[in-house]
Amino acid sequence: LSNGLALTPPMGFNYWNFDGCKTNLINETMMMDTAYAMSTNGMSKVGYEYVNLDDCWMAKTRDENGNLRADPIRFPHGIKYLSDYIHSLGLKFGIYGDIGSETCQGYPGSENYLEQDAKQFAEWGVDFVKMDGCNMQVSDMKKAYTDLGQYLQNTGRPMVYSCSWPTYAYVQNITMPFDYIEGICNLWREFQDITDNFTEWTQILDEMEDSVPKRSQFAAPGSFNDPDMLEIGNGLENAVEYKSMFSLWSIIAAPLIAGNDIISMSKEALEILINEEVIQVNQDPLGIQGNRVYKNQKLEVYQRTLINNSYAIALFNRGDTNSDISITSEMLNLTNHQNYNIRDLWSHTDNGTFSDTFTASVQPHGTVLIKLSPKINNNNNNNNNNNNN
Ligand code: DGJ
Repeated sequence: LSNGLALTPPMGFNYWNFDGCKTNLINETMMMDTAYAMSTNGMSKVGYEYVNLDDCWMAKTRDENGNLRADPIRFPHGIKYLSDYIHSLGLKFGIYGDIGSETCQGYPGSENYLEQDAKQFAEWGVDFVKMDGCNMQVSDMKKAYTDLGQYLQNTGRPMVYSCSWPTYAYVQNITMPFDYIEGICNLWREFQDITDNFTEWTQILDEMEDSVPKRSQFAAPGSFNDPDMLEIGNGLENAVEYKSMFSLWSIIAAPLIAGNDIISMSKEALEILINEEVIQVNQDPLGIQGNRVYKNQKLEVYQRTLINNSYAIALFNRGDTNSDISITSEMLNLTNHQNYNIRDLWSHTDNGTFSDTFTASVQPHGTVLIKLSPKINNNNNNNNNNNNN
């Protein structure tokens, strides 16, 4: 969607993956403390900006004028108060709604209130709208998501527009017009909901890679595939697996929406989430989604084209034993016989020169993530607009 937003994949927070709907956890205090933590723990400094609600923030019914309202127990001061606080920290505020008659958890849906809710979101100072798709026929979604997008735009307030339509089409095996959704949404949710489980998130990765039509072709600045939020720090996987997730979500230009408890996460989880060299891959200005370029049983290689004729390469070992993974210039389609500097984005070390092959030993479920940058030669030094192919 060309609304000037989400030129790189949005970064932020959403509570769904760790709290779901728990009354004692989802509330104003948690949202405010999370925003405060993000603004002081290094996250905002490296680009995390959206602090997002998910399902269960609403009261069970609309008010007498048909307006959405916050659950008075969870959010006693209302949504504008929360939004103002988040903005006062220099962060942005995201809301959740559902395009159908009810949200997935049974709260009021926007089906007959699209224009009214869009205006309400703008009045509350919303910067990001996640629009879920429970309780609506997939065949009605094209019109509904298009209309809401128009109403959001009519408010004049810039709001990132995240649409869950493809998730519902996918689980019902209905064909999706991706060339269409790319023009009306900034992000679109893909496949089933993620969980904190290595087998399950790698299945989402497979669905992305094996997709027909191939999803990566639809990604561009302003328009990104969304394989769902991060699980880093939620505790059911180890750090090696979380680093793999962060590496691969960066290669496939996924939104980086932390789905863990930001207030009390471990130092280890935080360090993964704020690895700037990996984030730079995710936030590459070209907005080109990477792809799997090699697979031999449990050993895989992914490649993403970056600005300045550089590449991010992930050597991913899904197996249960240490294994060597090799890349070759042929595999990466680098036929120009150029030499590249190898930078390891997790160890933060330079790792020699790549001319034709490179091999790394990769831990079980681990990823070695490297960046290949052309060795500077004569007059072609470092110049962004020096693109003489
Ligand atoms: C389904 C979505 O895919 C999830 O991310 C979450 O928003 C839940 N609905 C909330 O009910």
